[in-house]
Amino acid sequence: MRIKKAIIPAAGLGTRVLPATKAMPKEMLPIVDKPAIQYIVEEAVKAGITDILIITNRGKGVIEDHFDHSIEIEEMLKKRGKTKELETLENISNLANIYFLRQKETKGLGDAVLRAKSFVGDEPFAVLYGDDVIIGEIPAISELCEAYEKYGKSVVGIKEVSDELIKKYSSMKIEPLSDKTFKITDMIEKPPLDKKFSNYSILGRCILSSEIFDILEKTPFGVGGELQLTDAMKQIAISEGMIGIDFSGTRYDMGNKFGILKANIEVGLNHPETKDELKEYIKELAKTL
Ligand code: UTP
Repeated sequence: MRIKKAIIPAAGLGTRVLPATKAMPKEMLPIVDKPAIQYIVEEAVKAGITDILIITNRGKGVIEDHFDHSIEIEEMLKKRGKTKELETLENISNLANIYFLRQKETKGLGDAVLRAKSFVGDEPFAVLYGDDVIIGEIPAISELCEAYEKYGKSVVGIKEVSDELIKKYSSMKIEPLSDKTFKITDMIEKPPLDKKFSNYSILGRCILSSEIFDILEKTPFGVGGELQLTDAMKQIAISEGMIGIDFSGTRYDMGNKFGILKANIEVGLNHPETKDELKEYIKELAKTL
């Protein structure tokens, strides 16, 4: 079954990037010239997803504005004959059917996903975390969709990370199926190192079936007093097994300061308008370090 719907949870508080995120959602922080969440929406659209629900909360209205028309700017660009810029702006508002829903309390990623129950109905759907930008030739979520079609099981995007990060993310119990594909039979959220299964962690992408909603409704609040999506997925992993895909793109964590810097430098080095100047600048700067 083709995946047509996606959820982008973007209601977190972004405390790791304060003060930048005091009044500006971390999902709107730019990578060169586009906010993080636009890269994520574009990834979903490239993968054939047509309906996207963005979970927001108070103070994130600017995300809605970004995907709406900006009549004044568009009129002005039209008058001045700036057709390239006009096209860029119009394309943003025509990317997909984008819906918004507020998570009234920041009760965790699992709770944010649960808000999407009536939007999803009983189809399988994609989740793209609003602060995880993945850049690559093939959209990461397409790689996961393919695995869903092949194996008929829920799929998560995974990568090997350091022990330091395992403690902050999640750890997967895996059995290799092929080069970049694994069977996942258990998982744990933010484990102490003596409880980790492996250094493979979920990084920002999943394909889930609608059974997750019933499970989430019965899942107790977990680490940090939040409803953890990992705790609900763990039950599916144990009872049916899930698929882990070591996706091919590069992932940037826009929820932490160094991730934001890395994203801007690496994307800037590939951007036609900045790459030459930035390369020269980095070379000169490196001489002084
Ligand atoms: P994070 O745990 O990275 O988000 O959640 P956070 O709470 O903003 O992080 P801190 O405060 O810096 O530690 C991963 C994704 O889930 C969303 C976030 O917006 C992010 O995209 N999220 C998290 C929600 O939508 N609702 C929540 O209650 C928690």
